[in-house]
Amino acid sequence: MFEPVLGGSILGRASRQGILDVELVDIRDYTQDKHRKTDDTPFGGGAGMLMMPQPAFDALRSVGAERKRCIYMSPRGRIMDKELLTELAAEEELVILCGHYEGVDQRILDAFGFEEVSIGDYVLTGGELPAMVMIDAMARLIPGVLGSSESLSEESVYSGLLEYDQYTKPREFEGMEVPELLFGGNHKLIKLWQFENSLRLTKERRPDLLEAFLAQPHEFTKEEKRILHDVLSET
Ligand code: ADE
Repeated sequence: MFEPVLGGSILGRASRQGILDVELVDIRDYTQDKHRKTDDTPFGGGAGMLMMPQPAFDALRSVGAERKRCIYMSPRGRIMDKELLTELAAEEELVILCGHYEGVDQRILDAFGFEEVSIGDYVLTGGELPAMVMIDAMARLIPGVLGSSESLSEESVYSGLLEYDQYTKPREFEGMEVPELLFGGNHKLIKLWQFENSLRLTKERRPDLLEAFLAQPHEFTKEEKRILHDVLSET
């Protein structure tokens, strides 16, 4: 599952440049069972199967997990956000464990000091997709992974406001026009239009983000202050 995602596009380029290095370990390679079994039924009953300690311990030890920061992808975990991703992106190395049955034997998590991380309040069939979501979002925060044209600074969430509406050619498509101001070449006016558009969208869709944005110190220009005043006073 991982190879097409990690080998493609921006992540693939980062790997070839040596900025990102993902080593995949198949726990099944560490089983001592003749049927290559890695899961068993839970004590106390209940649905599904759990990852057994022995193959997981051996796989984890093979990558030195006892000396590294270990993350277990789980809907029980702390919800992933930009603060956590920024922190993880600064780590030299991480070990990410993906459960693929009902879960894993708790002793695996306890012994290696796993931190549990969730990608949201819903349940996936395994930890692989959540791990790829984490790797992708984290990699973009590692210096050098994004090219200059893919820069982070104007992006949604990272600037504190949702990203403004964008348009490309043609100017008119099936009767729908691009806002005139955007091809006027007046960069100052364009920036103000984008700021206003971002503010409106954030106010409408994510009032929680707008509140956090306004609580931060900013050095607004006179024009930006006027826009802020107008947008905030609209009902
Ligand atoms: N595994 C299954 N569901 C998950 C979720 N929401 N987040 C992280 N790992 C998971």
